[in-house]
Amino acid sequence: MVILRNKLRPFSAARYAGLAGFVLLAACLGYGQTPNSCLDCHSALPDPLGVSQEKFSQDIHSQKGLTCASCHGGDPTSDDPDKAMSRKAGWKGKIERKQIPQLCGSCHSDPTYIRQFNPSLRTDQLDQYHTSVHGKRLAAGDTKVAVCTDCHSVHDLRAPSDPRSTVNPVNVANTCARCHADAGYMKGYSIPTDQFAKYSTSVHHEALAVRGDLSAPTCTTCHGNHGAAPPGVDKVQNVCSNCHAFQAQMYDKSSHKEAFQAASLPGCVVCHGNHGISHPTDAKLGTGPDAVCMQCHKPGDACDQARAGFQSGLSRLDEAIKSANQVLAVAESSGMEVSEARLGQDQARDSLTKARVTIHSFRKDLIDQDIQAGMTIAAKDLVAGKKAMVERNHRRVGLGVSLITIGIVLAGLWLYVKKIEG
Ligand code: HEC
Ligand code: HEC
Ligand code: HEC
Ligand code: HEC
Ligand code: HEC
Ligand code: HEC
Ligand code: HEC
Ligand code: HEC
Ligand code: HEC
Repeated sequence: MVILRNKLRPFSAARYAGLAGFVLLAACLGYGQTPNSCLDCHSALPDPLGVSQEKFSQDIHSQKGLTCASCHGGDPTSDDPDKAMSRKAGWKGKIERKQIPQLCGSCHSDPTYIRQFNPSLRTDQLDQYHTSVHGKRLAAGDTKVAVCTDCHSVHDLRAPSDPRSTVNPVNVANTCARCHADAGYMKGYSIPTDQFAKYSTSVHHEALAVRGDLSAPTCTTCHGNHGAAPPGVDKVQNVCSNCHAFQAQMYDKSSHKEAFQAASLPGCVVCHGNHGISHPTDAKLGTGPDAVCMQCHKPGDACDQARAGFQSGLSRLDEAIKSANQVLAVAESSGMEVSEARLGQDQARDSLTKARVTIHSFRKDLIDQDIQAGMTIAAKDLVAGKKAMVERNHRRVGLGVSLITIGIVLAGLWLYVKKIEG
């Protein structure tokens, strides 16, 4: 490549002549500013050599005072292309894909350098990258994997906190999808290309992209930005516990945890999946299409019986809450005071939610405890509702009797008046 370039020099020099004129003009217009012949020249060049002033001014490096030469080397004060882009002035020539991590790392792995600009910026990206599948494969000569610029872009590279950054949480999934959802590009690798499609249907995508809930995960929350898995998580499969702590606590104490580990099964992911996680319902505990237990347990065995017990427990409580709700709603709309029982219903519903978390212990005694707590409250509320209805009926009878009495009196009065008139 270098040899080729040097051979082309005399020929290229002629081509540069016209551009040099333009550069002179641009330099005059930009008088007073630090000269940047690279930008002056390249902003006039067509793609892929073109880098416009407008684009580069969006780049965090440009905003922090770095120039083209900070990354590419060369002499930005010279309008002569042979001098500006000379190896003697440190010009690096075309930056090959496999050199990119090293180039970015030359600054970003240097804490003393980075601290001058931003003391809180991490400097482990390159180290982490080396541990990722991308990094390992690149080192082995596979240049189709993601390098720094595939995720971050180049020449209009923004800080991740900028909503327009390709690595801002709301944009990450699209950035990964450029390769991972492209079956043509990923041909020859033995991994699926459905991660983005599935993620797009998940509860997590719904929370993050639709509801703007930044506590929900995108690709890199689970897979790590640069490394193999986020810090503190030894395997991607265990990442769920970072956020779903209550379910994880229960699961960690269950006999499934050990049994799954022994069989190298991926924990939560066995029952919930990884990319297309949907809102679970009690049907997961059933025997229909959404069922997850029967892939391992046999109909009628002890675990299957426990499963059926969990499911019927949950649906019994759900029914109890609904019946109490119905009675309370009618009582309330008839003007009866049932606010205390209404509050109780919230507690009953909390017990149901808790029971659905406790499912992850897979222990009858613990699950029954939550269900029983909810059943007791729902039963009490139902009684309160029914009492209110009885009270309402009493009042209605009372009202009816007094209405009839008033009617009779009025009729008597009317007859009496008629009689006097007669
Ligand atoms: C007078 C115009 C001019 C100036 C000044 C100039 N360049 Fe270039 N640059 C070019 C042209 C034209 C090419 C394409 C050369 C070729 O194909 O041989 C190029 C190619 C490049 C390439 C791509 C090499 C490749 O093979 O893909 C890089 C990178 C580059 N220039 C960076 C710089 C930097 C950095 C500076 C400033 C230090 C600079 N240029 C100054 C005109 C210029
Ligand atoms: C933060 C480092 C950085 C800065 C600053 C930077 N570049 Fe680059 N540039 C790169 C990298 C990395 C590549 C290779 C991108 C790739 O292959 O994906 C590149 C590629 C190029 C290319 C070759 C494009 C091609 O496809 O062959 C040109 C030309 C270029 N840069 C010019 C410039 C000019 C002009 C400036 C200043 C306006 C500039 N660069 C500023 C890192 C930088
Ligand atoms: C010449 C040194 C240098 C090189 C080479 C370099 N950077 Fe930077 N980079 C910086 C500096 C300085 C900052 C500003 C840090 C700050 O103030 O936040 C920065 C900022 C960033 C940021 C924003 C960080 C933040 O959150 O503020 C990202 C992302 C980034 N660089 C990625 C890259 C990538 C990718 C490459 C390679 C294409 C690269 N950098 C090459 C020096 C460099
Ligand atoms: C697979 C995509 C991907 C690759 C490859 C990648 N990054 Fe990042 N990078 C990200 C994401 C995502 C973030 C974090 C965004 C956030 O903070 O929400 C990030 C953040 C950063 C930051 C800001 C500080 C930080 O660590 O959070 C810097 C600097 C950075 N990357 C540099 C690099 C460098 C240098 C390379 C190459 C060695 C690289 N990145 C490769 C996706 C990537
Ligand atoms: C430039 C294309 C490209 C981009 C962008 C990209 N990847 Fe990759 N990725 C690859 C290729 C190619 C592989 C190697 C496939 C393999 O491992 O067989 C890979 C491998 C992986 C693997 C390992 C798969 C395995 O089990 O072997 C994970 C995980 C991964 N990428 C996640 C991501 C995430 C998350 C993002 C976005 C932040 C991303 N990638 C962006 C191309 C890309
Ligand atoms: C909720 C966490 C989570 C999110 C979000 C997530 N992944 Fe994954 N991903 C996983 C788990 C768990 C695995 C399975 C790893 C294993 O079995 O060791 C996996 C596997 C993969 C693999 C390996 C191939 C495969 O499909 O099994 C790739 C590539 C991948 N994910 C890319 C992505 C991309 C791209 C996104 C965003 C569109 C994404 N992931 C979002 C958790 C997640
Ligand atoms: C970064 C935090 C985070 C990680 C990691 C994470 N989740 Fe979530 N998860 C959330 C958030 C936030 C929601 C949305 C809660 C809501 O709907 O209000 C959610 C929702 C869910 C739901 C639906 C809950 C419901 O009631 O509808 C399930 C199931 C789920 N996640 C399972 C998993 C599994 C399995 C993993 C690991 C593969 C995982 N999550 C990883 C944060 C996370
Ligand atoms: C053996 C199967 C299984 C495993 C393993 C499993 N779950 Fe669940 N999970 C379920 C079932 C079944 C439900 C649905 C309960 C219901 O709604 O009736 C559920 C519900 C959930 C919910 C939402 C319901 C709620 O209200 O709590 C979340 C979040 C969740 N699981 C997270 C996890 C996490 C995190 C792990 C790993 C620590 C995990 N699950 C492991 C079967 C499993
Ligand atoms: C991937 C296979 C697999 C799935 C899916 C699975 N189990 Fe299990 N389950 C096991 C294994 C293995 C054991 C341990 C058996 C033993 O210790 O004898 C077990 C044990 C149990 C036990 C006994 C727990 C104890 O503490 O004694 C119950 C109850 C149970 N499972 C219920 C369920 C329910 C409910 C589901 C669905 C939500 C489910 N299982 C899904 C494999 C599975």
